[in-house]
Amino acid sequence: MTRFGDLTRTEREQVEALLRDCHLLPAGRDTELLFVRDGPRVIGCVGFEVYGPHGLLRSLAVDPCRRRSGHGRGLIRAALAALSACNVDDVWLLTHDCGPLFAEFGFEPSPREHVPRQLATSAEFVADECRRASCMRLSMTA
Ligand SMILES: CC(C)(COP(=O)(O)OP(=O)(O)OC[C@H]1O[C@@H](n2cnc3c(N)ncnc32)[C@H](O)[C@@H]1OP(=O)(O)O)[C@@H](O)C(=O)NCCC(=O)NCCS
Repeated sequence: MTRFGDLTRTEREQVEALLRDCHLLPAGRDTELLFVRDGPRVIGCVGFEVYGPHGLLRSLAVDPCRRRSGHGRGLIRAALAALSACNVDDVWLLTHDCGPLFAEFGFEPSPREHVPRQLATSAEFVADECRRASCMRLSMTA
């Protein structure tokens, strides 16, 4: 797990390219990132941020040539384990079309009005590109 701002230049460039190719927002300086690598190459990543008792899962991306091999689910599992270690009460995310994938992990649709204030002002939630995305929440205490 590495903060985006602490990555080496090569790693940063690879993550930036992966997120760009997947049409996702760039990671923030303080986004914690987990990777799947093939040798020196980053072929998948997921990010998370912690806002007090709330977690945000974001920046889930797998190289198009390496999909459908379980990397996506593995990254989600790893991010949830890391967030659980941060003792968050719940985890939130925004997605355009991966709702069914996240539902497998217990995420449920949630109205945007229910998003905690700390999260609602985060870069992901205020981004224009995410205006139409669906919001989901996973309780970590249930
Ligand atoms: C979502 C993503 C990370 C999944 O990676 P992956 O390595 O293929 O994941 P897995 O192999 O663990 O399988 C993922 C499952 O999600 C499903 N899935 C992946 N992308 C999907 C999409 N755009 N819409 C609906 N379902 C999708 C797949 O059908 C697969 O289900 P299956 O095993 O029943 O066929 C990858 O498709 C990706 O990078 N997409 C572009 C970026 C993106 O949309 N990220 C999510 C932002 S919220």
